[in-house]
Amino acid sequence: MSDNLITKYNIPGPRYTSYPTVPFWKDDTFSTKAWQESVINTYESDKENTAISLYIHLPFCEQLCTFCGCNKRITKNHTVETPYLETVLKEWTLYTNLLNKRPIIRELHIGGGTPTFFSPENLAALINGIFKLATKADKASISFEGHPNNTSFEHLKVLKDLGFNRVSYGVQDYNETVQKAINRIQPFENVKRVTEQARDLGYNSVGHDIIFGLPFQTKEHIINTIEKTKELKPDRIAFYSYAHVPWIKGNGQRGFKDTDLPSPDEKREMYEIGKEALQKAGYIEIGMDHFALSTDSLYQSMKDNTMHRNFMGYSDLKTEIMIGLGVSSISDSWFGFAQNEKKVEEYQKRINNNELAVYRGHILNKEDLIIRKHILNLMCTLQTSWTENETYFKEMPEVLAQLKEMESDQLIKIEKETLTILEKGRPFVRNVCMAFDLHLQRAKPETQLFSMTI
Ligand SMILES: C[S@@+](CC[C@H](N)C(=O)[O-])C[C@H]1O[C@@H](n2cnc3c(N)ncnc32)[C@H](O)[C@@H]1O
Ligand code: SF4
Repeated sequence: MSDNLITKYNIPGPRYTSYPTVPFWKDDTFSTKAWQESVINTYESDKENTAISLYIHLPFCEQLCTFCGCNKRITKNHTVETPYLETVLKEWTLYTNLLNKRPIIRELHIGGGTPTFFSPENLAALINGIFKLATKADKASISFEGHPNNTSFEHLKVLKDLGFNRVSYGVQDYNETVQKAINRIQPFENVKRVTEQARDLGYNSVGHDIIFGLPFQTKEHIINTIEKTKELKPDRIAFYSYAHVPWIKGNGQRGFKDTDLPSPDEKREMYEIGKEALQKAGYIEIGMDHFALSTDSLYQSMKDNTMHRNFMGYSDLKTEIMIGLGVSSISDSWFGFAQNEKKVEEYQKRINNNELAVYRGHILNKEDLIIRKHILNLMCTLQTSWTENETYFKEMPEVLAQLKEMESDQLIKIEKETLTILEKGRPFVRNVCMAFDLHLQRAKPETQLFSMTI
């Protein structure tokens, strides 16, 4: 990858887990009432009774990792578990009360924070409470994020017995200097133990998260981390670019200096080297940031063109409704987005007041829905087309004009009514989406809202 391309295209850009992206949500057209109506409308207009997705955010962690960009609350006090889970179940009741029939859950993901901060018994009570009011779909995808340092055999066993079939573990990097800098000492043996235990118990997909671009990280560290990862052969690997977002308050990223981070060129080299090593080991690159073995359902869904992207990242299926429970969670009714209060106390207060805890959101208009489709196409299949009337929008000529330079750099190919991202252009998929992002184009933000694309 030439340094010129990196210099030219390394700009702040969204990761497009939604369109419009969160900073461009129009709060003035949003209200809790509008959000509720949007959920009800999508749910009731779905005559085939398609299932929904559920995301549950469990924010607590015992120790702060200084690179972390997630919404979390650091505490060693485990008395927070029960009141928090009771609130989540209350919130679930508020949502199911809106629906005119018992929901079918096709996808359930528990993320965090650290879900394995909670005891196995408490997690079982949560899941049983969820399925008291819903039916599990055949072939439902049920997953959680486990921290290798505190996931116990009991966690894995209890959750497997409740129907969990996927788990992903935060690995990040095996090098000790990097681990010290990010305040996360995590020996290989811990990851090995939890990976093997999940396999033995019959989980059909085990994932590892690796990050490139961390403080003090080098290419050798990436190679070494992937070598070790190969020994355990996870089914999926999220190979994330470190998102440096120090302006998000309280995430502790100021625990190291900017000068301790690799340069954009070094970071891009880490990606290239990592990608090559993963491909040599039999992993196939999927959309952005993800790799999977050909036996994993994410790869199958990419091949079948059924892959989807939502706030949880890539998913092997699409549901129109995704309800996010818990502090800071984001929900999607296809025609609207809503985010919950970001502070645990605020979230609990509102739910315990018998109201939904949403505090901001966006109701999509016709233009948003068209652009959303293009961005989803690009992020999931690296291609989009405007052959039909519903996919054409009047700004299309300006969008294509903006992409001319990427075309002459041979990153994309534009034909009569289709755009394809070429292999060389893969690292710049976010840049291509940005040309379609009419909210971003119109606003031209002067302050940095997003992490860098490289
Ligand atoms: C909620 S954590 C995973 C579960 C558990 N808390 C743990 O750390 O093992 C989700 C993943 O997000 C990724 N992540 C967090 N902050 C990030 C950042 N600033 N840049 C890139 N990836 C990040 C990490 O790879 C992490 O494993
Ligand atoms: S990386 Fe995981 S364990 Fe570390 S602070 Fe973030 S959510 Fe908590």
